[in-house]
Amino acid sequence: MNVIQSIETLKAYQPGKPISELEREYGVTNAIKLASNENPMGPSPKAMEAVKKAVSSLHLYPDGAAFELRQTLATFHDVEMSEVITGNGSNEVLNLIARCFLRPGKDSALIFKYAFIAYPIILKSFGVDFDVVDVSTVDFEQSLDKMFDAIRETTKLIIIANPNNPTGTLIPADTLTSFLKKVPKDILVVVDEAYVEFIDDPAFSSALDLRKTRENLILVRTFSKCYALAALRVGYAVGPPHLIDYINRIREPFNCNLIGQVAAIASLGDREFVEKTVTQNRAVRQALFDGLASLAGVRAIASQTNFVLIETPISGSQIYTSLLKKGVIVRPLKGYGLDPFLRISLGSPDENTRFLESFKQVLHA
Ligand SMILES: Cc1ncc(COP(=O)(O)O)c(C=O)c1O
Repeated sequence: MNVIQSIETLKAYQPGKPISELEREYGVTNAIKLASNENPMGPSPKAMEAVKKAVSSLHLYPDGAAFELRQTLATFHDVEMSEVITGNGSNEVLNLIARCFLRPGKDSALIFKYAFIAYPIILKSFGVDFDVVDVSTVDFEQSLDKMFDAIRETTKLIIIANPNNPTGTLIPADTLTSFLKKVPKDILVVVDEAYVEFIDDPAFSSALDLRKTRENLILVRTFSKCYALAALRVGYAVGPPHLIDYINRIREPFNCNLIGQVAAIASLGDREFVEKTVTQNRAVRQALFDGLASLAGVRAIASQTNFVLIETPISGSQIYTSLLKKGVIVRPLKGYGLDPFLRISLGSPDENTRFLESFKQVLHA
């Protein structure tokens, strides 16, 4: 398939519905959005302060090499600066990786079913062939044994989200370690840890700590989730210097904007904010599970993230539309092939209560 044919099979990424759009379309007010895994607390006060200071420099191009941000990240992760690259959200970083290391028509990639929907979009946009490893809707286990068996001669890239979106599930360290060790050396493994800060399962290890298991490994992270900087589009990768150097050669000259850079640096320095976010997230996650427990036909999948996947007794799309009318935006998963499911981002305690009440009313209607 050439690139044009591949793009013809592509459906554009559908983001969570913006609040303003819902209010315009449905005439509701005070709508809430629990659809894009954003941090309901808003950004760190330190980040907001840094943004205010940087505003007077908007007429200048940002530091294209994002020196200070990369230096701060290198110190934070105890790696060399040459091992870090930043981008316009982790989405761009993933795009750059696919563009840099895959030859359309020759190489193929490997991803899980029900993985982050941007992965197939990115691969199709470059006309790259990819295989999808099946995942059961009973336990949503991302089986690395199955993934290993799916490797073929053309496989050159494997992308794994840990924890995964939209399932919220996690691959334990021992399983990931043995997989990383046995995957052929010429295959690049990318581990996307967009939700890493929310994990409390001790069975997890970051790919950062597993880098000694294989050279051909890149870790991708974002400031959009726990750090609450989704609007500023800052993501990054940590990997071997020679791979990071290749990615650096193909990126846009100023791919990481000034405001994003300063806000990300300030956010990394605000551990109290991260602590507060994670504590609230854990409490709301528990409250959501408790609130859903008594509802017949509803199953919540254990989550290590700031969202919860729930199975619904009737079509998820139908519930989604009924919730919209009540001013509550969640994420339907028809595009993922998961229709009797919804993904609920964990909002503030009040937003969570509002979701639970609206959801119950919709189910009983
Ligand atoms: C698993 C995963 N990776 C990457 C991203 C992209 O994040 P961003 O481009 O905002 O950094 C998301 C966003 O939802 C995600 O869920």
